[in-house]
Amino acid sequence: MKGLLIVEHPLIQAKLTRLRDRRTDRLQFRQLLEELTALMVYEITRDFPVREVEVDTPLERTTGVELARPVVLVPILRAGIVMLDGVLSLIPNARVGHIGMFRDPKTLKPVEYYVKLPDNLAEAMVIVVDPMLATGGSAVAAVRRVKEHGGRDVRFLCLVAAPEGVRAFRRAHPDVPVYAAALDRELSDHGYILPGLGDAGDRLFGT
Ligand code: PRP
Ligand code: URA
Repeated sequence: MKGLLIVEHPLIQAKLTRLRDRRTDRLQFRQLLEELTALMVYEITRDFPVREVEVDTPLERTTGVELARPVVLVPILRAGIVMLDGVLSLIPNARVGHIGMFRDPKTLKPVEYYVKLPDNLAEAMVIVVDPMLATGGSAVAAVRRVKEHGGRDVRFLCLVAAPEGVRAFRRAHPDVPVYAAALDRELSDHGYILPGLGDAGDRLFGT
């Protein structure tokens, strides 16, 4: 699908399979989600701009690089918060914004309950993270908020996407690429991704 990039790395696909497994317990689920996110971030930041810097080794001065633009991470609560730790393991000085959202179980529309974003969004590379892209409602609304706060260079990182969600997201934000570990078959009548991995928030937090 246009605008959707599936990261096919074998380590990612093997970990995703364990994440889907209903026997995977909460502790393993959290660890896998964190590890998977770090692996995905490694892939999706390949084209981040860098600039040259001088560095003194113990022996002499040489030239290296640093990221040229600040990175801002925006997890969609709740499940995105565990992904955040995965990204921070690779980009520890990233700034972090938070967007709290849950789906109304009847309408499946997102209900926003918290927004706190850094003020340098216009100059930053922004990565919005949430493991699930189902109807797309939460991701569409979260990225809209990020843009309202000035975000211009935005990427959306999830693990499992449904075709319906990708289409809705791309309609709303054609300028924002979507990265996922898998594009699943469809949504159930209750808005769950099939085959999916269940309710990510519930599996993470035991609710
Ligand atoms: C889940 C998930 C996404 C959303 C995806 O969160 O983490 O945010 O559903 O569904 P959508 O694409 O149809 O909007 P949920 O609403 O269950 O809230 P929670 O993280 O607090 O459990
Ligand atoms: N949210 C989830 O956590 N899982 C789904 O399958 C759909 C939405």
